[in-house]
Amino acid sequence: MISSVLEEKRRFKPTKQFLAGSQGPNEKALELIRKKAARNPEAFWKAQAQNLVWKKAPKKVLSGKAPHNTWFADGRINAAFNCIDVHLTTHRRNKAAIIWEGEPGDIRTITYLQLSIEVNRFAHALTKTLGVGKGDVVGIYMGMVPEAVIAMLACARIGATHNVVFGGFSGDSLRDRLNDSKAKVLITQDGVHRKGVATPLKAAIDSSLKEVPSLRHVVVLERTQQDAKMKMGRDVFWDQLVKGMDTHHEAEGFPSEHPLFILYTSGSTGKPKGILHTTGGYLTQAKYSANIVFDFQDRDLFFCTADIGWITGHTYVTYGPLLCGASIFLYEGAPTYPEADRFWRMIERHRITIFYTAPTAIRTFMRLGDEFPNRWDLNSLRLLGSVGEPINPEAWMWYSRTIGHERCPIVDTWWQTETGAILISPIPSATTLKPGTATRPLPGMDIDVVDKSGKSCKPNVGGLLVIKKPWPGMLRTIYGDEKRYIGAYWSEFPGSKKQAPFYFTGDGARKDKDGYFWIMGRVDDVVNISGHRLGTAEVESSLVAHPSVAEAAVVARPDEIKGSALVAFVVLRADVKPEYVAALPEILRAFVAKQIGPIAKPDEVRITGGLPKTRSGKIMRRLLREIVTSGVTTGDVTTLEDMTVLAALRQDDE
Ligand code: WTA
Repeated sequence: MISSVLEEKRRFKPTKQFLAGSQGPNEKALELIRKKAARNPEAFWKAQAQNLVWKKAPKKVLSGKAPHNTWFADGRINAAFNCIDVHLTTHRRNKAAIIWEGEPGDIRTITYLQLSIEVNRFAHALTKTLGVGKGDVVGIYMGMVPEAVIAMLACARIGATHNVVFGGFSGDSLRDRLNDSKAKVLITQDGVHRKGVATPLKAAIDSSLKEVPSLRHVVVLERTQQDAKMKMGRDVFWDQLVKGMDTHHEAEGFPSEHPLFILYTSGSTGKPKGILHTTGGYLTQAKYSANIVFDFQDRDLFFCTADIGWITGHTYVTYGPLLCGASIFLYEGAPTYPEADRFWRMIERHRITIFYTAPTAIRTFMRLGDEFPNRWDLNSLRLLGSVGEPINPEAWMWYSRTIGHERCPIVDTWWQTETGAILISPIPSATTLKPGTATRPLPGMDIDVVDKSGKSCKPNVGGLLVIKKPWPGMLRTIYGDEKRYIGAYWSEFPGSKKQAPFYFTGDGARKDKDGYFWIMGRVDDVVNISGHRLGTAEVESSLVAHPSVAEAAVVARPDEIKGSALVAFVVLRADVKPEYVAALPEILRAFVAKQIGPIAKPDEVRITGGLPKTRSGKIMRRLLREIVTSGVTTGDVTTLEDMTVLAALRQDDE
């Protein structure tokens, strides 16, 4: 049993302003959809699949036994055709597919027709000039430029499997991911604009690329006009490559289970896992979820701040919105360049209507102060979203007030690289929101909180978050490591003759009386204090509710008496008076004890200048745990954003 002690009483119904501009279901209609989907999930998913255009319509829906299910297996489909061509015969032909702003301030608008032309030319170039065929793996290592999306779609169009590697990773991380997937071609850039500087990209990876024997060609997009050393016969500039290519391209239908992409994600231990997603099921789930969660209307401009190097950049920058015929907004650079108001300024400039970001960004903006968002007119916004971590109620309230002006619902969306798409989320036209919960599973999903034996937990009793029935967008395996696939996700609840196995998410959660899911973080972030298991996220949430605290991470160290003792790492807000700092650890301990209860009171509070984070903004609690237990950090730190934070924390320890 995982104890849960925070109670949130605030409730927010869909606002009148939002409902006036929405076509989503109301609460009653949503309940009907839910019930119908639960009665016959396969019929439900079949209907969702019919919202795509198939080259050969599938007769099958779900086949195989978990964890080796297939979806729509006898169907044939082309992902790029569904993202682009289907719109060309509609009023969307000349609608913006992508509105892009470069960090220096340059702007490009690419209509669906123009996107089609670019993708088709690049698709021809990949097959004809570079010899890429179906099933070949193509690495993409780029910044946030439209060509990154074009490259993904061109791969999808010809049945090549893309492997996008976040442009912030080192050459060695790139090399490992290309080798693990045996990539044949890499698409990259000469350089990227970040924080006002043009930084070389290609030059920084050249030596690592020598250690990728499968690599035949490297395509280089010129963005910063930095001298990229080109290797004769292997490297080619993007512009030269596509010159003269046919702008028409016949899209072939590929089997539904054809691999669409591999995306590497870190586990809490060991080397990165290559999550494999296939085509028909993934597209079905991406389109369905994007539509129901983001309530796309033709006039919307959707800004998802995720980089294409993450799953959110796959499903909600690229596939989901384009399948729905939405306009996506892409931004190249840093959110704080030239000033910390860049996002808000772009929202005003482009009249962005839907904004989807991560709690870590929200907490950062909260820390920087209201002055920045208050400079700009944010009235075009009608919906806000959050993803990636539990959003603590105080950050939720700030987001709702300061960015959403109490007019915009917030969709707190729970999902994983492995799930392919959002699985737990409010439906903004229907759901009564409570700050801090992703609310309920989307219709069609069977998700539960269970104890170790697999039995459903009672309301408000913490347990393990599992998915009980297969879903179309589920990962199919870990690329090249079937054993790890079974071990990581399917061995906790292996099922029996009568009972199919459950997919184990690795997250702890509780369900409240209304059936809302409160995610308590990874189970390896769950600690046992005096016989109570406590989600460290709840203690963090309490700390962040204190006016002096900007960010907090809580980990456990072994304690002879209590089993574990809690250590809180706390980053203060910029405006905290220096003379106040010395007293704060005691004040914060008392604050948590009062908010949650004495069991949750941190044994130690350490004030620090920063927390170690992954490039996607997740706090690396594993490193903090190592610091508090042994004082040294071991294992993989390739995803760490800023090594100096780690060095500083280690010093603090001495
Ligand atoms: C966490 C990101 C609470 C969770 C799409 C999950 C969340 C992991 C939420 C997956 C949320 C994601 N509330 N926790 N709304 N969304 N998580 O693969 O622990 O980068 O297991 O996918 O992030 O992270 P990933």
